[in-house]
Amino acid sequence: MSSNESNQRVLSGMRPTGQLHLGHLHGVLKNWVQLQHEYECFFFVADFHALTTQYEASENIEQFTHETVVDWLAAGVNPGAATVFVQSRVPEHAELHLLLSMITPLSWLERVPSYKDQQLKLNDKDLATYGFLGYPLLQSADILMYKAGWVPVGADQVAHVELTREVARRFNHIYGREPGFEEHAEAAVKKMGKKAGRLYSQLRREYLERGDGESLERARALLQEQQNLSIGDTERLFGYLEGGGRIILPEPQSLLTEASKMPGLDGEKMSKSYNNFIALREAPEVVEEKVRTMQTDPARVRLTDAGEPNNCPVYALHEVYSDEDTLTWAAEGCRSAGIGCVDCKKPLIEKINEEQAGYRQRAEPFEKEPDLVQSIIQEGSEKARAVARETLEDVKEAIGISHR
Ligand code: TRP
Ligand code: SF4
Repeated sequence: MSSNESNQRVLSGMRPTGQLHLGHLHGVLKNWVQLQHEYECFFFVADFHALTTQYEASENIEQFTHETVVDWLAAGVNPGAATVFVQSRVPEHAELHLLLSMITPLSWLERVPSYKDQQLKLNDKDLATYGFLGYPLLQSADILMYKAGWVPVGADQVAHVELTREVARRFNHIYGREPGFEEHAEAAVKKMGKKAGRLYSQLRREYLERGDGESLERARALLQEQQNLSIGDTERLFGYLEGGGRIILPEPQSLLTEASKMPGLDGEKMSKSYNNFIALREAPEVVEEKVRTMQTDPARVRLTDAGEPNNCPVYALHEVYSDEDTLTWAAEGCRSAGIGCVDCKKPLIEKINEEQAGYRQRAEPFEKEPDLVQSIIQEGSEKARAVARETLEDVKEAIGISHR
């Protein structure tokens, strides 16, 4: 149970792997574009994370970072609505990672499923490194740095958010016992006003004395409604409810992004490593070429052979892009050998290019003037850094190394 369901901050990151493709678009990016209007969003390029596996091929990371941001902008991420930044431009991430590493048991990292999986999968690289083991903890630092309530991730990353919650809980447990906690908490109760304050105290007693879970729920709901409390006081009162200390690092929750069902050119899932993708900003001729050379139902050797759309990757793309009429036309034409594969592909090529025209247009000013992208990154990183510095101050003060 998170203490901060009312927390409206979202944080998510992406490693710079080069050109993004339609799988990213229909999975992650459309989701981000929607979220940026509903939450306070922080989106960043995780270039430190790229180094954990690509430390020997680091020469492309900067260029990939730039291209990743252009792809985001093309897809509609709006730097006026969301804070867009680059991880290494906010070096506080490294500092928080270090501090969290002091309290993180090795076994927690060794048992994260991606640790062994990736080592096996990327067996051409030596991933028996300190940095790679720390990958999920670096991600925890990313998330906790912004005290984010929600982290949009795919299913493969849920375990990392879970680790983040455990690390936050352990941090709060070890360092959240500020002197005079009770007095601060009681003062915060007073700030709620008489009626709400009395109800809070009653519900808290019911929970602490009788273990009444319903009272705990109601007290949490009550806290979420409070408008007059600072974040610090709110977190304190969440902690006070359960008798614990102050919550310095709130526990985030994952916001599961549905896996993209975008089929690739070969009918498998679209993926960079299968080389079956259409890039987000692909030139129109290349889109045409890629679709034109797609395999179709192998049963259709000659034009007069009937085919089965469900055995054809072209039809799978039609299902993403085409309207009902076109779908019926393609399916019937295929099954009756009434149309050829070249005809069938034509409206698909048009549709994809139509969609892409919008992305290309949005990207154009940034392709012409790369400095524009740099200043977006610069500005976003400064904004992120201001938040990061505050968290680090809290963290260092709680540990006792703020030297103030
Ligand atoms: N590990 C994530 C991925 O590979 C990228 C990432 C790094 C991230 N830090 C994050 C995602 C923080 C969400 C929140 O996709
Ligand atoms: Fe595929 Fe269309 Fe050819 Fe049928 S007609 S095999 S659906 S490309």
